[in-house]
Amino acid sequence: LSSEFAANRRSPPRRHFGIAFDIDGVIFRSESPIGGSPQALKRLYDEESGALRIPYVFLTNGGGFRESIRASELSTLLGINVSPLQVLQGHTPFKNLVQRLENELVVAVGKGEPAAVLSEYGFKKVVSIDEYASCFPGIDPLAPYKNWEVKQVPKHNGVSEARTSTDNICSQRVQAVFVVSDSIDWSRDIQVLCDILRTGGLPGREIGHQPQLYFAHDDLAYQAAFPSERFGLGAFRIALESIFNRIHHDPLSYTCYGKPNPFVFKNAEAVLKQLVSSCPDSGLAPDNASTAVHNFERLYMVGDNPDVDIKGARQAGYPWFSILTRTGVFKGTGNHDKFPADLVVETVEEAVDYIIRKEC
Ligand code: G3P
Ligand code: MG
Repeated sequence: LSSEFAANRRSPPRRHFGIAFDIDGVIFRSESPIGGSPQALKRLYDEESGALRIPYVFLTNGGGFRESIRASELSTLLGINVSPLQVLQGHTPFKNLVQRLENELVVAVGKGEPAAVLSEYGFKKVVSIDEYASCFPGIDPLAPYKNWEVKQVPKHNGVSEARTSTDNICSQRVQAVFVVSDSIDWSRDIQVLCDILRTGGLPGREIGHQPQLYFAHDDLAYQAAFPSERFGLGAFRIALESIFNRIHHDPLSYTCYGKPNPFVFKNAEAVLKQLVSSCPDSGLAPDNASTAVHNFERLYMVGDNPDVDIKGARQAGYPWFSILTRTGVFKGTGNHDKFPADLVVETVEEAVDYIIRKEC
């Protein structure tokens, strides 16, 4: 604990700032903590009580698991107490589409438990692409050559519990596809998605309007364990779109969520406000909790990807302040040319140190 922060423990910090941390390339590479992230994050909690002292969220484009599961995984890996409210993933805003598609058949794509994610948001008829593809014998002619097993659909998948037979969903029209996280079988997923999208949601049958298509984000690449960047959901989107546009008269229509969209930063600000008012004992509550609308004077975005994290924070404008680390996608010296950050540091630990010195 730095001396000024230790001294500050006697009086609560001023309550005018919050922090959003990117995950991949800032907090972790794959599952390994980087840049002193566990120590850095511990400084945001009261040392004795463990209560949150400085409002922060994880603002990641990644995902594939429910926010509650991701929160407990982060808690374990980092040795802190992360609440599900603090986990904002690329797919988190999909919950805003429940009203429109609550009772429609929707297909969930991606690693992890994409169908469970959508079911938890309130979608009532969700099927994973694994289960959906299994309805159509021969839909993936390469399947016999694939030497891996497709995992069983988790029990909490809404459709598995609600429907009585697989035939039931095979014959229903798919109204929307959600690409929740990275596809783990591009060849099968591109084939099946083209089938769904070009036929109006009934593979092998009639031609109709393209079902809605949503991507959790559009990152071309991200930083994982390998030294150079890995292809992300944006690369998958380009592959799908290029093929679809060669086989269909109308171009692929889709919506991408995630950073750098301004609404993601607006939502992060709203959640940070909620965190302030939900921590009355931590010294973080607004001066008049019952009526005050807490306004931040500064919100920090700590990220590794100039095109996504820094561009997003710059577009979001006041009160966002961008901090670029050198632990992930950005590996340059100096600042980024196209999307320069307000501050460039080596690691997240250095970023947190800067913020605490400045604000507390
Ligand atoms: O798939 C995850 C990746 O594209 C970005 O994750 O945490 O750097 O926003 P993050
Ligand atoms: Mg990142």
